[in-house]
Amino acid sequence: MSYEFAIAVADVPEDEAVGVTLGRHDVAVARHGDEFFAVENLCSHAAVALSEGEVEDCTVECWLHGSRFDLRTGKPTGLPATEPIATFPVEIRDGDNGPAVYVDVTTTLNGVTPQ
Ligand code: FES
Repeated sequence: MSYEFAIAVADVPEDEAVGVTLGRHDVAVARHGDEFFAVENLCSHAAVALSEGEVEDCTVECWLHGSRFDLRTGKPTGLPATEPIATFPVEIRDGDNGPAVYVDVTTTLNGVTPQ
């Protein structure tokens, strides 16, 4: 386990994911109320960043063809994507500038290998 700082909690909007780069991984950080999630920032259907899509009902939408991915499981909730995206462990830690989202990109929660 090696958690890295990703973004301040205050900088994660309610309705959009935010793209961050951690090591060689592009990660989309999103929230559902007070819960925070980190998923691979790449649609499993084509090379599209999910951080450009909107977040609703604990899913992030791919803006290109409209597939939504469950932030908890990484699974698509609708076509055309059929493969899950990797989901990473998240921790909220208090820092000098308020709470922040830390992500561990050395492992995934759902066993999916990042693309
Ligand atoms: S590129 Fe994301 S659904 Fe097609």
